[in-house]
Amino acid sequence: MTTLYFNARLIDKNADICGALATEGGVITYVGDAAGAPCCDAHIDVGGNILMPALIDMHCHLRDPGQTQKETLETGMCAALSGGYSTLVAMANTVPVCETAQEARDIEERARALTMCNVIQAAAAGVGLGDTVATDYASFAGKIKVVSNDGKTIFNDDFMRELLRASSQYGFIISTHCQPERDTVNRDIRLLREVGGNLHVGHISRCETLAAIKEARNSGLHLTCEVTPHHIFGYDCDYKVNPPLRRKCDVQALIEGIRDGSIDCFATDHAPHTPEDKQKGAAGISGIEFAASILNTVCAENDIPLTTFSRIASYNPSVILGLPPAVLAVGAPANIVIFDPSAEWSINPDNMISKSHNTPFGGRRIKGRIVKTIIGGITKYEYNG
Ligand code: DOR
Ligand code: ZN
Repeated sequence: MTTLYFNARLIDKNADICGALATEGGVITYVGDAAGAPCCDAHIDVGGNILMPALIDMHCHLRDPGQTQKETLETGMCAALSGGYSTLVAMANTVPVCETAQEARDIEERARALTMCNVIQAAAAGVGLGDTVATDYASFAGKIKVVSNDGKTIFNDDFMRELLRASSQYGFIISTHCQPERDTVNRDIRLLREVGGNLHVGHISRCETLAAIKEARNSGLHLTCEVTPHHIFGYDCDYKVNPPLRRKCDVQALIEGIRDGSIDCFATDHAPHTPEDKQKGAAGISGIEFAASILNTVCAENDIPLTTFSRIASYNPSVILGLPPAVLAVGAPANIVIFDPSAEWSINPDNMISKSHNTPFGGRRIKGRIVKTIIGGITKYEYNG
């Protein structure tokens, strides 16, 4: 089955051009002008909307197993597909904590059976998300892409040093949770300089943190970092989330970091919680389904090109995770979205697809909407009003 998407604005990290794109058997087989397109079985008029690689989330919480009152693999992936995501890195703070390659594989296989998104399950760095007893790093080789104690800071320097060493030895990425942010990121940079490793700094929220990361890079270190939708969209607000929403100047610095390329990834930290748990003080914001719209709104308001959107939301995560590069090119996976950049709407917690509706952004206007999400050439989500 071959499908031609025509009358499209084709955007990826390199280009923003008008044209057509064809898919067959789960891969992109043509990108160019409509006149030169091959004959196809099906023709889809994109209506001048954007067609771009589906998004890849380096950081979300699917709560399955153990907290399925907040989210399940199915409800989380349903929300993710409506938000344009093909691939999700699910954090390890499940119940029980995901500590072994086998547990991660079981979750990934349950997700695969649902034929929705591609789930990459992270494993914990420490038993019980602690920083005293390490999980079995050697057994992660070739099986675990991301190791993280997300939700908990690794305070133990020796533990972090060994984790960095193991990340090089066994080929995984460490996604960190840093609170206090500046001190912990500075410590991690110091240890990275000392022993090397694959460091990805999770959800940065402060101007000073970005400055420290830039400085480390300028001195020749390799590390990557991410920002969340809420840290570039909200400030001076005490809605409970870790790290907290900061000041306007932090938001502005993070947006400049997106513009100048010093922020590698846009990651949701989708963190669903029940109203009861929020009332008891649980930290986190749910919102994978409108993350792309928030990023589009921020890009539009700050004159940031959508090639940059695609770089941080799709391409860079694909490279960091060792996946086929998320670009619009012949041979690339047909994981694509159709996005209407001009649709304006308001966030309404009551209409959320995720099982949990914990967001401080109810009523906020956002611009842009995922119209279709296509995974492996198959339409998995379609907006219908
Ligand atoms: O606010 C947060 N919630 N930050 C985290 O790092 C963890 C997350 C959660 O699991 O709820
Ligand atoms: Zn998180």
